Amino acid sequence: MGRRTFLLFFLLLAATMSYCFAINVTYDGRALMIDGKRRVLVSGSIHYPRSTPEMWPDLIKKSKEGGLDIIETYVFWDMHEPGRGQFDFTGRKDLVKFIKLVGEAGLYVFLRIGPYVCAEWNYGGFPLWLHYLPGIELRIDNEPYKAEMKRFTAKIVDMMKQEKLYASQGGPIILSQIENEYGNIDWEYGDKGKSYLNWAAQMAASMNTESPWINTCNGFYCDQFTPNSNQKPKIFTELWSGWFSGWGDPVPYRPTEDVAFSVARFYQRNGTLVNYYMYHGGTNFGRTSGGPFITTSYDYDAPIDEYGLLRQPKWGHLRDLHKAIKLCEEAMVTNVGNTTSPDSNLEVTIYETGSGLCAAFLANLDPQSDKTVNFRGNSYDLPAWSVSILPDCKNVVYNTAKVNSLTTMPKFVSEPFKNGNKTSTASQSSWSWFQEPVGISSKNAFVLPGLVEQINTTGDRSDYLWYSLSTHLEPNDPLLRDGSSILLHVDSLGHALYAFANGKLAGSGKGSVSNQKVSIEIPVALEPGNNTIDLLSMTVGLSNYGAFFDKKGAGITGPVELKGSSNGSSIDLSSQQWTYQIGLEGEQSNLYKGSSTLWVSKPSLPKNTTLTWYKTTFSAPPGTSPVAIDFQGMGKGHAWVNGQGIGRYWPSNIASANGNCVASCNYRGNYSQSKCLTNCGKPTQQYNHVPRSWLKTSDNVLVLLEEMGGDPTKISFVTREIERLCSRVSESYPIPLDFWTSNHLTRKTKPTLSLECPSQKQVITGIQFVSFGNPHGTCGSFNHGRCRSKEARRIVHKACVGKRRCDIEVTVENLGNPCANVTKSLVVEASCS
Ligand SMILES: *[C@@H]1O[C@H](CO)[C@@H](O)[C@H](O)[C@H]1NC(C)=O
Ligand SMILES: *[C@@H]1O[C@H](CO)[C@@H](O)[C@H](O)[C@H]1NC(C)=O
Ligand SMILES: *[C@@H]1O[C@H](CO)[C@@H](O)[C@H](O)[C@H]1NC(C)=O
Ligand SMILES: *[C@@H]1O[C@H](CO)[C@@H](O)[C@H](O)[C@H]1NC(C)=O
Ligand SMILES: *[C@@H]1O[C@H](CO)[C@@H](O)[C@H](O)[C@H]1NC(C)=O
Ligand SMILES: *[C@@H]1O[C@H](CO)[C@@H](O)[C@H](O)[C@H]1NC(C)=O
Ligand SMILES: *[C@@H]1O[C@H](CO)[C@@H](O)[C@H](O)[C@H]1NC(C)=O
Ligand SMILES: *[C@@H]1O[C@H](CO)[C@@H](O)[C@H](O)[C@H]1NC(C)=O
Ligand SMILES: *[C@@H]1O[C@H](CO)[C@@H](O)[C@H](O)[C@H]1NC(C)=O
Ligand SMILES: *[C@@H]1O[C@H](CO)[C@@H](O)[C@H](O)[C@H]1NC(C)=O
Repeated sequence: MGRRTFLLFFLLLAATMSYCFAINVTYDGRALMIDGKRRVLVSGSIHYPRSTPEMWPDLIKKSKEGGLDIIETYVFWDMHEPGRGQFDFTGRKDLVKFIKLVGEAGLYVFLRIGPYVCAEWNYGGFPLWLHYLPGIELRIDNEPYKAEMKRFTAKIVDMMKQEKLYASQGGPIILSQIENEYGNIDWEYGDKGKSYLNWAAQMAASMNTESPWINTCNGFYCDQFTPNSNQKPKIFTELWSGWFSGWGDPVPYRPTEDVAFSVARFYQRNGTLVNYYMYHGGTNFGRTSGGPFITTSYDYDAPIDEYGLLRQPKWGHLRDLHKAIKLCEEAMVTNVGNTTSPDSNLEVTIYETGSGLCAAFLANLDPQSDKTVNFRGNSYDLPAWSVSILPDCKNVVYNTAKVNSLTTMPKFVSEPFKNGNKTSTASQSSWSWFQEPVGISSKNAFVLPGLVEQINTTGDRSDYLWYSLSTHLEPNDPLLRDGSSILLHVDSLGHALYAFANGKLAGSGKGSVSNQKVSIEIPVALEPGNNTIDLLSMTVGLSNYGAFFDKKGAGITGPVELKGSSNGSSIDLSSQQWTYQIGLEGEQSNLYKGSSTLWVSKPSLPKNTTLTWYKTTFSAPPGTSPVAIDFQGMGKGHAWVNGQGIGRYWPSNIASANGNCVASCNYRGNYSQSKCLTNCGKPTQQYNHVPRSWLKTSDNVLVLLEEMGGDPTKISFVTREIERLCSRVSESYPIPLDFWTSNHLTRKTKPTLSLECPSQKQVITGIQFVSFGNPHGTCGSFNHGRCRSKEARRIVHKACVGKRRCDIEVTVENLGNPCANVTKSLVVEASCS
């Protein structure tokens, strides 16, 4: 994931070796060719460690139903080789299993080996030990780095070959990629960057048979992009379906109509492969999130949400788009597009073949005005900022701004917190705890003169590093002369810190995505004699982006000063003898696993205390819906369920209230990640996903490490449920795609509104709103307009209640004609249970 478009990478086409069922993947200036046939393809990113193996089959199935041909994933080096030469491919790290599942579902794989991954992932996916190899410099022409990169790449390529996963071996991998997002930063690396890329190309070539340079495009839009050679196809490697979120910031989303617009524009202008980044974003479990300050949720406003549920209408509207594009495939691969501009802000593209196939894209790029375009003797209405698709150059089957797909409103439903038959709520008695000592407690502590950089010191084994100092003040010290007004000043590279004076919390500070540095100046109560100053510095995910991101550093590098109120009375503590401790006592004792003699349950549950570990047991919420923990009431920390890290929580980090949060963001006009936001004035993230497969029926162990102070009895379990469905279909809506089976329109059909409950076990139990006419509003808050059919409600009730799915023809014959000269829509809001 990157911020700038146009980059270079090596595409490895798995071509020559011949095996049974081998697939021959090549390309030309128009498209990728599979077994000699040009293809128009749709791909989506799903990162295997951001979900669980138990979720994979369902995610892959939903991807296929959504119209994807390919699933793309990075390979995450740090997870696979946590110690040099110690490999791990188990559980969420089971790359081979993931690829096989994709293949079994009949989809292809696009494998981005990295080894650098620009995915908001801790340290860009590099294992931290790499940083300590003598003489190493990452991502440039440096022998130690190249040796490691080559070793890891070879390891992965060999593994894939051994499992026969390349297309040339009959497997699903049709594309792979080495290096990533280098095109936008190589100038910062100078000549050693250029020679490194040449080396990488050769290395890639040595491992496979063909590795052409292909430059591709990443961004919100890439229709203006052209490859650096007309022998290469136009590929959109990362179409950003949304955006990531950072602790303390509002949460970005990207309107469905605009995502569809971007995709349609790319295919309109000769594009033949789009990859959605992300199609399912998932969760940054444990300490895997990068940034710093990337949230635990990596939902990304993707078509499949963090929990694996369809995000509607996004998923459905894009599925319909993919169907429409596929209807144009034959015409698109046979010829290039002929694009003309009949009027400013209008673009008409025709893909026409000698054999009579014809597909057309009509675009209105105007961000405000709807337009009408005359095309081959017919006139077509084009809403502002939209593309219509005509697979036969005549009938519109799809318009990017007309969403004819279900809208669902998922919500979190609270579950009683209990264990076994004890229906106790989150009561005091069910918790045990451990109060982490302030300052140095470990035998492994060490003393160094001056302040140290944190990542070099901890090797990222923990978020935490204690900086501790004892300082002696004479009664007549000028600092003490002014009584209580001594200030402690601390400058840190980030990412957050707590300052304690003589064991008591004196203050804290935190950075953000936009500024990771922390600077505090707080009053401290010091006494004549010895005083201890304990500074706890913590990382919140290591930097993953930009040239030399690996050298950004973190921790308290100073200065650290004591300042009196009278002029000149200050002491710089920076170069004194500091005592350091990596990590916390509870971490060293593996409290996250649950069993330890450190846990106590007397005298009474501490609340709102810093550095407190908590433990309880609970039963899984009944049912099969996805589970989360609602962390409201807690401050900041880490959580584990049955020893599995469910990530950092930080519900006390509230997104700025003056962010640009608007109820309904206008999809028209160029999108950027700050355009459409939610959660202003609310926690950036309140819920942490707990995958079902990590839960037993009862006696699950929940462990929390609370840093700031919180009340664990306030947390609750929730399940994510879809209870409401909405749909809006206009009587002028494009012909339903379900009735297009080939390139020829075989049946004239009527616009149809369909409702379907997401779960097999649900039926439609209630109809909250029906209106045929000119209703307005959005799902959850529809209102009737002036024009309104009297019969619609009865007709919809009869057709839908008690059924899982219903279809209603949106015509005046079926629903009555309340106002003749108005284009009417049918809107329905229903509930399932
Ligand atoms: C693969 O397809 C290309 C044309 O796309 C063809 O030239 C080549 O011979 C094919 N290779 C094999 C092994 O079939
Ligand atoms: C599509 O490709 C053709 C042939 O290379 C070219 O003439 C045309 O300008 C391209 N269209 C766009 C919109 O780039
Ligand atoms: C593209 O379409 C225009 C208008 O229909 C036509 O005049 C022109 O000849 C076409 N160009 C090509 C290369 O077919
Ligand atoms: C809980 O209740 C069920 C029946 O209601 C019983 O079978 C089970 O043994 C009970 N479990 C515990 C741990 O008491
Ligand atoms: C104060 O600290 C110094 C150095 O850490 C130590 O030698 C001394 O004994 C301490 N004095 C008291 C009163 O604790
Ligand atoms: C970490 O240590 C290395 C080697 O000692 C040094 O070159 C580098 O500058 C240090 N990084 C930071 C951020 O201090
Ligand atoms: C500190 O010095 C500045 C100028 O050097 C003066 O303006 C200020 O009043 C002094 N403050 C105190 C508390 O003496
Ligand atoms: C928690 O403690 C802090 C400082 O001791 C205090 O300011 C705050 O009001 C307390 N919060 C709650 C919810 O008790
Ligand atoms: C959107 O961005 C493109 C590319 O930067 C630009 O050409 C176009 O004018 C922009 N459109 C609007 C409506 O701002
Ligand atoms: C509808 O429009 C037609 C022609 O535009 C007109 O003749 C007719 O009177 C209109 N009917 C109503 C009810 O406004």
